[in-house]
Amino acid sequence: MTNARENTVERRDVLGTAIKATVGAAVLGPLAGGGMVCAQPPAPKGIAASGYAATDASVALAPFDFLRRDVGPTDVQIDILFCGVCHSDIHTARNEWLGTVYPCVPGHEIVGRVSTVGNKVTRLKVGDVAAVGCMVDSCQRCPSCAEGLEQFCENGTTFTYNSPDPGTGKTTYGGYSTTVVVTEKFVVKIPAGLDPKGAAPLLCAGVTTYSPMRHWKVLKGQKVGVVGIGGLGHVAVKIARALGARPFAITTSPGKIKDAGRLGAEGAVLSSDAKAMKGHANSFDFILSTVPRAHDLNPYVALLKRDRTLVVVGALDKKASDLVAAQLIHARKSVAGSLIGGMAETQEVVDFCAKHKITADVEVIPAQKINEAYDRVVKKDVRYRFVIDMASLKK
Ligand SMILES: NC(=O)c1ccc[n+]([C@@H]2O[C@H](COP(=O)([O-])OP(=O)(O)OC[C@H]3O[C@@H](n4cnc5c(N)ncnc54)[C@H](OP(=O)(O)O)[C@@H]3O)[C@@H](O)[C@H]2O)c1
Ligand SMILES: [Zn+2]
Ligand SMILES: [Zn+2]
Repeated sequence: MTNARENTVERRDVLGTAIKATVGAAVLGPLAGGGMVCAQPPAPKGIAASGYAATDASVALAPFDFLRRDVGPTDVQIDILFCGVCHSDIHTARNEWLGTVYPCVPGHEIVGRVSTVGNKVTRLKVGDVAAVGCMVDSCQRCPSCAEGLEQFCENGTTFTYNSPDPGTGKTTYGGYSTTVVVTEKFVVKIPAGLDPKGAAPLLCAGVTTYSPMRHWKVLKGQKVGVVGIGGLGHVAVKIARALGARPFAITTSPGKIKDAGRLGAEGAVLSSDAKAMKGHANSFDFILSTVPRAHDLNPYVALLKRDRTLVVVGALDKKASDLVAAQLIHARKSVAGSLIGGMAETQEVVDFCAKHKITADVEVIPAQKINEAYDRVVKKDVRYRFVIDMASLKK
């Protein structure tokens, strides 16, 4: 499994370092005591990894070989077993949010087995099943980090992929790959008994939906709307149910109506059915929108009770929704946003799901099917999360 072009890019990088070292030796050689200049470039540092990368917004993801950093004293190396396919991966690979640095290895729902630990690692040991979500580092000093909200790090969170990596000076590469090296603080433990492939989506879909339900204090018996029953939405329904709330699926897909009950929803509403939507007007205590495209929020705001909040986690594109302010004003309603969750909360949601026996409904694919999977996610044709089996990269 090789991709000549990408290998060239990466090797050039590695060689660049090697060349600099050799040139440095050549320049300093005579001054440094007349030692011989070594003709052999030093061996590349790092751990060999292979995965799938996008090399441009409009081309298919393809095999890609690269290097992970060596395991430092506080690092954990995880051999990846499964990685979920989040819609954010698609937005990023296709540069829909702009700012994608290529090559881009997506993937931030990572579960694997610890293969190496640094000598200062205390929480994890070789053989543990462990996970990595959307972040791999943050400054650890700012007020947000101090509050355990590393996703809002005021000095810049290091996200799992497509993020400047202060450690290497490069861009981070995500979980569509064989192995990853992450500082211990950003590694989550997977409790025994939680199926690793079904647990992988909890690392993004789980925490992204759990966090706002906790922040806005969803209570037992409350009526919760989940808009968009995809990867995030179906997990949100399960979590809301486990919190003791009464979740309702609000969907554009007639085919998902019958699934809603199985997922734990008390009911389901087809958003294109104006009469059904009207029947739920002013009745929801909390609504979470996971819709991945700019969309009209007004029909969903109309479903909220007075003083309640609609939280948007999807639709991070630039096209603004024409929100009707009068709707907010006359019943003191709010529209808010939320971004994943902090590291403590990521561990919390994984433990919560283990306790309540919640995993994602997954369709396991080999890495070679990733482009087909992307097209199916966009077409709303997945029940409900694709998860890549990383064993497919080792064949
Ligand atoms: N804020 C955060 O921290 C955060 C974290 C993770 C992901 N996200 C974002 O959240 C969004 C959802 O992610 P996901 O992985 O759950 O995506 P997904 O699996 O594609 O699910 C999205 C669901 O939204 C509905 N939908 C899709 N296109 C739509 C459209 N044009 N109009 C109305 N409804 C539509 C569909 O559900 P129905 O068939 O039921 O209508 C679809 O299954 C993405 O934009 C992702 O980038 C945000
Ligand atoms: Zn995600
Ligand atoms: Zn910080």
